[in-house]
Amino acid sequence: MKTFKVGYLVGSLASQSINRKLAGTLVKLAPPQLEMEEIPIEGLPLYSYDYDANFPEVAQTFKRHIASVDAVLFVTPEYNRSIPGALKNAIDWASRPYGQNVFARKPSAVIGTSPGAIGTAVGQQHLRSILAFLNTPQMNAPEAYIQFKDGLINEAGEVTNESTRAFLADYMAEFHTFIGHVLTVLPREQ
Ligand code: FNR
Repeated sequence: MKTFKVGYLVGSLASQSINRKLAGTLVKLAPPQLEMEEIPIEGLPLYSYDYDANFPEVAQTFKRHIASVDAVLFVTPEYNRSIPGALKNAIDWASRPYGQNVFARKPSAVIGTSPGAIGTAVGQQHLRSILAFLNTPQMNAPEAYIQFKDGLINEAGEVTNESTRAFLADYMAEFHTFIGHVLTVLPREQ
């Protein structure tokens, strides 16, 4: 089985983010053939096309980081039935200047958790719509709408519910398979 480098973006900037906790468990549950590394979104200024002629260093670094990985995983909360503004801002940076969208042809997957019963489903649909426009091949299934209940992830970052743990491990295994399929037909440019 091939090894792939996956960059993950956590959509929340909150210090106690439950989505960051979820991301931590996904790193642990990922098959060893997925090398997981966070691509941080904090510290980016608010995007404007005035920057297109001269991107600040922080935005150049962010874009280079995305360009360097084989695939991208979005682990995001739902804010007001959409994605957090910080995540949308980061995506806007990565998509510009026009013609230099680093998400193009890069396999992606979306997952998120919220205390609510629908577990970020509506926010994820918004994100999928954005990613479709950015021409990233998305893993359609399995979908993962995780309802966060107290104690679901313990202090050690382990999932305490066995069926959820198995589901998340399977989700990451499926993502590995999906990346392999996409990169077979759309190999990365050297
Ligand atoms: C929320 N929350 C929320 N939850 C949800 O299921 N659907 C929603 O539309 C919203 N909207 C929303 C807006 C804003 C501005 C905040 C701050 C929160 C609740 C949200 O799921 C909860 O705060 C989670 O803890 C957010 O995830 P992180 O940031 O902890 O990872």
